[in-house]
Amino acid sequence: MRIAVAGGTGRIGRLVVALLAQSGHEAVSLSRGEGVDLLSGAGLAQRLTGVEALIDASNPAAADAADAERVYTAASENQLVAELAAGVGHHVALSIAAIDAVRGGPHYFGKRAQERTVRAGAVPHTIVRATQFHDFPAMIAERAVSGGEAVVPPLLLQPIAPADVASVLVEAALGAPEPAGVVVAGPRTEDAVDMARRTFAARGADRAIRASWAGAALGLEFSGEVLLPPAGARIAPTSFDAWLAAGAR
Ligand SMILES: NC(=O)c1ccc[n+]([C@@H]2O[C@H](COP(=O)([O-])OP(=O)(O)OC[C@H]3O[C@@H](n4cnc5c(N)ncnc54)[C@H](OP(=O)(O)O)[C@@H]3O)[C@@H](O)[C@H]2O)c1
Repeated sequence: MRIAVAGGTGRIGRLVVALLAQSGHEAVSLSRGEGVDLLSGAGLAQRLTGVEALIDASNPAAADAADAERVYTAASENQLVAELAAGVGHHVALSIAAIDAVRGGPHYFGKRAQERTVRAGAVPHTIVRATQFHDFPAMIAERAVSGGEAVVPPLLLQPIAPADVASVLVEAALGAPEPAGVVVAGPRTEDAVDMARRTFAARGADRAIRASWAGAALGLEFSGEVLLPPAGARIAPTSFDAWLAAGAR
């Protein structure tokens, strides 16, 4: 099967592309580095010939909440228009678990706009909502460094391995559209501050961590149990400990 992967050079996208190739499928990666701009639609139509499903694992940058809504709406609309023209029968979008529960966070406004656009579109779809990836705490730590310390908020997460996310996306694309969507999480809850410390240690990186909401990349609207998956979420197998032991990459 020929499957397009929007954002196929990104963190999750490249794992999806590799998994498709390993499973005997043909992956068509779509990114600006490969001549496709999802925001303008440039280069999209030419790459969708013979494509049966498209997995959207892109992550277009945005300046604020309003910009994130604009960017994610445009990127999704352009994909759906090109998919309809090319006869692509299944749009699989990677979203975030619990995005309805969190009212802040500019990125979340963009992801909700993406979901609305996909649901309103004419292409049969599956929205895969994943919890935060195992490397999420280290990633947000790098975004909030002050006075030589990385500030990490004490989030409660149920994180998932990037390879497990890729696997669920591929399975979705190979199957029939599931309009009700899929929610997937890792096997156990974890503390983001502990995760960041252990990730940097596993990578051999000398990074001082300070636990705080003040100055962190995410605000208090992410506190409590708001990021945990709903009951009945699918549970992926790879624990944070196993991911660390395998090199934390
Ligand atoms: N991090 C988490 O814990 C988490 C949890 C759940 C869901 N998610 C979702 O997972 C998705 C993927 O995240 P990621 O970390 O894998 O992304 P990433 O590593 O930042 O990769 C982004 C990809 O999108 C492409 N891209 C960006 N702007 C583009 C544009 N205008 N046109 C075409 N391609 C474009 C990039 O390639 P070019 O730069 O070459 O264009 C790259 O291939 C995101 O939408 C995020 O919301 C993340």
